[in-house]
Amino acid sequence: MSAPTSPSGPPSDVGLPARKAALALFAAGLESRGGFDAALSLPAFSSLSPRDRAWTRALVATAFRRLGPIDRALDARLKKPPPDAVRQLLQIGAAQLLFRDTPAFAAVSTSVDLARTHPSTKPFAGLVNAVLRALSRDGIGEPGPEAHAPAWLFARWKAAYGEAAAQGIAALIPGEAPTDLSLRDPADRDVLAEALEGQILPGGSLRTQRRGDLSEWPGFSEGQWWVQDAAAAVPARLLDVKPGETALDLCAAPGGKTLQLAAAGASVVALDRSAQRLKRVTENLARMGFKAETVTAEADAWKDGRTFDAVLLDAPCSATGTFRRHPDVLWASRPGDIGSLAGVQARLLDAAAERVKPGGRLVYCVCSLEPEEGEAQVEGFLRRRPDFRLTPASPEAVGAPAEALTAQGSLRILPSSWAETGGLDGFFAARFDRAG
Ligand SMILES: C[S@@+](CC[C@H](N)C(=O)[O-])C[C@H]1O[C@@H](n2cnc3c(N)ncnc32)[C@H](O)[C@@H]1O
Repeated sequence: MSAPTSPSGPPSDVGLPARKAALALFAAGLESRGGFDAALSLPAFSSLSPRDRAWTRALVATAFRRLGPIDRALDARLKKPPPDAVRQLLQIGAAQLLFRDTPAFAAVSTSVDLARTHPSTKPFAGLVNAVLRALSRDGIGEPGPEAHAPAWLFARWKAAYGEAAAQGIAALIPGEAPTDLSLRDPADRDVLAEALEGQILPGGSLRTQRRGDLSEWPGFSEGQWWVQDAAAAVPARLLDVKPGETALDLCAAPGGKTLQLAAAGASVVALDRSAQRLKRVTENLARMGFKAETVTAEADAWKDGRTFDAVLLDAPCSATGTFRRHPDVLWASRPGDIGSLAGVQARLLDAAAERVKPGGRLVYCVCSLEPEEGEAQVEGFLRRRPDFRLTPASPEAVGAPAEALTAQGSLRILPSSWAETGGLDGFFAARFDRAG
């Protein structure tokens, strides 16, 4: 759900099809991680005009970013929980009413019309009308940061990082993230920073508050940059590949880190289980003018005997650190996901270790805020593999905030770092060196 564009034109003439599509995207995003992205290919959404698609995406992103306060306001007005479909109608209606520039009458009347279109929601049309009118009249006040996060995730962040840090993370949930770019050639930084009205961050990423179609931005078609959150650019720097080295990027798609390894002059193999997602890697490599070998395989079942100087494992994870760009992740994640993902991560780490040459190195990273997917993985791995040691990171050398360095020597980047300019994705990264 990256950088939704603002709707153009008056929103009051957006009709029921766009609102139906918004409900479908929203329901899919609540249902499962990745559900929102998958639903973008549904005809209900893809058949809309470009303007209505932009309006719909922006509305659904707003609904996810504001869902904490919206739910509290709804709960205060509902005597008993309505069916899910009715609740979702109310949530999307409230997002329009309170956080988009939709006139109140349009938000209420279209929500009531939508309720009437389906037998399961029709009996609740009166309730939808009454609750949204009450919200429109009373507003929802100024909720504190904590109100923006799902309660179970806020409790986890508080336990892991303390109250103030948890509040700092939650405070970023309602806002839109700036766009960070990784530059192909650091020498272009000043020219591109000026052209894109951006600033250069400590690691060399360019941050811009621009919105809109990236393919029209200066330097896109020339392959001068690719989109990559400044925190996501840290793990490949930690791997520190040198020209001519061999590097394996496990779980590579869509390829942000593959591009960094290729830009550093390594001979790269980019592996992912998804052939469809690997196409994005190939496209990105072509646009940037880089080469890499791409492989479709399960990382722990790849039948190939090669070992590498440097291996990067960007493991599948709960992705709770990416809520600034994907606010749906907070609401699609379930407490049970974290334990099962931690099992997958440990398995993939062991497979990645087998690919590291004696004397070579391994970086493990996840875009999760949950310690089971980060610090605990490091502890487990070091117990299982005494031939690897953790090499403490230098935040300054890899463009990470100084406070990201943990006692363990790994990097725990919180979204609230560099909050003045829009924060960072939450990331965890650790580097291991294998005995020679
Ligand atoms: C966090 S994304 C990777 C982002 C990527 N490294 C980048 O920087 O652009 C995780 C990727 O892992 C892939 N993946 C998940 N499980 C995998 C497995 N067992 N083997 C290979 N790839 C896997 C998914 O298809 C997905 O593309």
